[in-house]
Amino acid sequence: MKKRKGIILAGGYGSRLFPTTIGVSKQLLPVYDKPMIYYPLSVLMLSDIQEIAVITNLDYMSQFQRLLGDGTQWGLNLSYICQHSPDGLAQAYLLAEGFLDGAPSAMVLGDNIFYGDGLRDLLTDARDQTHGGRVFGYRVSDPERYGVVGFDSNEVANSIEEKPVCPKSNYAVTGLYFLDETASKKAKSITPSTRGELEITSLLEIYLNEGSLSVQKMGRGYAWLDTGTHASLLDAGNFVRTLQHRQGLQVGCPEEIAFENNWISLEQLSDAAIQFEKNEYGEYLNKLLTSFL
Ligand code: DAU
Repeated sequence: MKKRKGIILAGGYGSRLFPTTIGVSKQLLPVYDKPMIYYPLSVLMLSDIQEIAVITNLDYMSQFQRLLGDGTQWGLNLSYICQHSPDGLAQAYLLAEGFLDGAPSAMVLGDNIFYGDGLRDLLTDARDQTHGGRVFGYRVSDPERYGVVGFDSNEVANSIEEKPVCPKSNYAVTGLYFLDETASKKAKSITPSTRGELEITSLLEIYLNEGSLSVQKMGRGYAWLDTGTHASLLDAGNFVRTLQHRQGLQVGCPEEIAFENNWISLEQLSDAAIQFEKNEYGEYLNKLLTSFL
């Protein structure tokens, strides 16, 4: 089996955050002290994935390229794919078919933030699943806003619906999808929903009907944060700020993960610490560096 590749879906118009997102991509907005996309990028890096495609719309692609480059500063191989029009999450698998080239994938939405002790184990376990798909169910108070998974009496997933009026459970499907190498082929058989999108839930339903979708609940010890509204974006920033100040540890720091994964050298970590020396992010990298000298 080929090595799992990553996709960050960072397109869309961000219209729910207008006027903030008229001139800048939503996924580049700050969540406290770093761009939003650093958080989902870190999730893929924690999943031990190095070859990653960032899907963006054409207007903002150069902004993402300026920020993330080719990824070598983090030991990654980053490429960019254009989504000309936001026709649905499942379209990512059509656009990325050439990039994936028959490899299994982990796709994360560029506006999803995950945090929790043990996240790395949860992710590497999903990465190691060789057949079918793995998604995560997270308990929310407003499931009707999300893809919702229903469970039978044995807690086995038996339905998946996009933004149902009468949700079958309180478990939302998070924006993180570990799918096997058949995802692009399966995505080709999906037709647009009534709102005109190729829904990710339609793709997941194919896996579910095939009996190959595993839905793992992310327990209450994890945070899955929403950045969909101005208020929730501010809440997410405050969450990150509170944790970082209390613990003195960064949330979503690609340099730290790359170094832990042995993907970058001490010299590369030092370069980053120098680049950001004027702020707390650089101070943090410097402390990390000196603890290894
Ligand atoms: O966040 C998890 C939820 O994400 C799931 O529970 C739902 O099943 C899934 O459909 C999705 O729901 P949203 O209503 O949050 O989807 P939204 O249209 O807001 O798109 C999510 C992100 O993906 C957003 O940052 C924009 C980006 N996007 C969206 C579409 C439709 C793209 O990059 N391209 C697209 O074509």
